[in-house]
Amino acid sequence: MARAGGWGAGSRTDAAARLLQRHPTYEFLEARARRRIPRFAWDFVHGGTGADVGIDVNRRALDRVAIVPRYGVMGKADTQVEFFGRRYSAPIGISPVGMDALAWPGSSRCLARAARDENIPYITGTLADSALEEVAGIAGPNAWLQLYGFPRDDHRVTFDMIARAEAAGMSAIVATLDAPVRAKRPRDLANRLVVPFRTRPSTVWQVARSPAWTRALLRAGMPGFGSINRYVEGTPTLDRIASFVQKELVGSFSWSEIARMRKAFSRAVVVKGVLHPEDAERALAAGVDAVMVSNHGGRQSDAAPAPIDVLPAIVDRVAGRAKILFDSGVRSGLDAARAVALGADAVFCGRAFLWGLAAAGDEGGAFVARMLRDELAVAMAQSGAWSVPDLREAAIRHPGRFDFPASKAHVAELAAQ
Ligand SMILES: Cc1cc2nc3c(=O)[nH]c(=O)nc-3n(C[C@H](O)[C@H](O)[C@H](O)COP(=O)(O)O)c2cc1C
Repeated sequence: MARAGGWGAGSRTDAAARLLQRHPTYEFLEARARRRIPRFAWDFVHGGTGADVGIDVNRRALDRVAIVPRYGVMGKADTQVEFFGRRYSAPIGISPVGMDALAWPGSSRCLARAARDENIPYITGTLADSALEEVAGIAGPNAWLQLYGFPRDDHRVTFDMIARAEAAGMSAIVATLDAPVRAKRPRDLANRLVVPFRTRPSTVWQVARSPAWTRALLRAGMPGFGSINRYVEGTPTLDRIASFVQKELVGSFSWSEIARMRKAFSRAVVVKGVLHPEDAERALAAGVDAVMVSNHGGRQSDAAPAPIDVLPAIVDRVAGRAKILFDSGVRSGLDAARAVALGADAVFCGRAFLWGLAAAGDEGGAFVARMLRDELAVAMAQSGAWSVPDLREAAIRHPGRFDFPASKAHVAELAAQ
């Protein structure tokens, strides 16, 4: 039987080995990214809402999940998984990020290539730099589309984007629920990252001190909102698009709108931002194929629980009727193993991929995908799990687990059945 791989095992090219030595973990990528990109861009990606409590909560909650190692059975960890009718190389994907080009100009195209080359899903954002058709042209069916609500004219923009995602062959649409209002992001306010954008001397100075980022900007062009340009009247200047978004985008959706999306799209429908089992139940009633347990990486409510702590209750409630996706705070393949062991079918990351690009350049997204996958394989081997489903058999200690008292409405619903 094949022996398990590990960090010393396998043949890596010199370039891959150098990348890994320079950035052995998420933390190294984050630290290098900080030195290479303008301060306002770093703050935009790194920051959360309020006092950044949610970011720490997410991190600490994941660290507290212990998996008891198991030994004696030899094998080779197979990280492949299948969902929505496709086989992926690992239960790992790229979360949607708006204004992603601030982290690294040309980011959406780089992430689409990473998704294609490493065979993982990439959820491109409504507010991403590149148009959804361009992303789908690169990533093929590994491209999924995230949606925000534009309620005017009976959701004309949202449903037009769904039709475009269908025509572009995207495998899933992901409706974000957890942004019913614009969250207060203190660092963006302090950096005047607000509409209308105005270049300040400090912005110019920060850009001048970031030569790698500036070279990427010259190659990729000014950051934009490729999927929304066409909905803006007149020439779609950055300011016009930004004020369109400011005026028209009202983040969230009602359950009946989710049910309408279900009818409008023939492939998978996902809702993102679910933290309560009863919201998962309502999503199922609306016909979704998956719920994504997420607190937006700590960017919406500083009082939200860590998604890892509510994951088991949602997994129990969904009971196999839909897939469970997970994000927020994932920094390693071990974190992915923790979430899968607690019932997630796939684990997504936002900042990890952006730090990868900002630290290592255009190839950084693919590098992060490989790093997380290799770390996951190591974590699986330490747990005696040779396939992803084996991880669910692991002995886990999870002191932060959140138990939900049944609400009065739910008790009444059950009684009526
Ligand atoms: C800079 C940034 C922009 C984001 N923009 C969006 C967005 O436009 N739509 C969305 O649904 N989530 C957005 N998110 C949230 C991510 O999809 C994801 O939930 C979060 O990054 C996960 O946490 P992590 O960064 O700790 O992995 C954004 C996150 C970041 C860091």
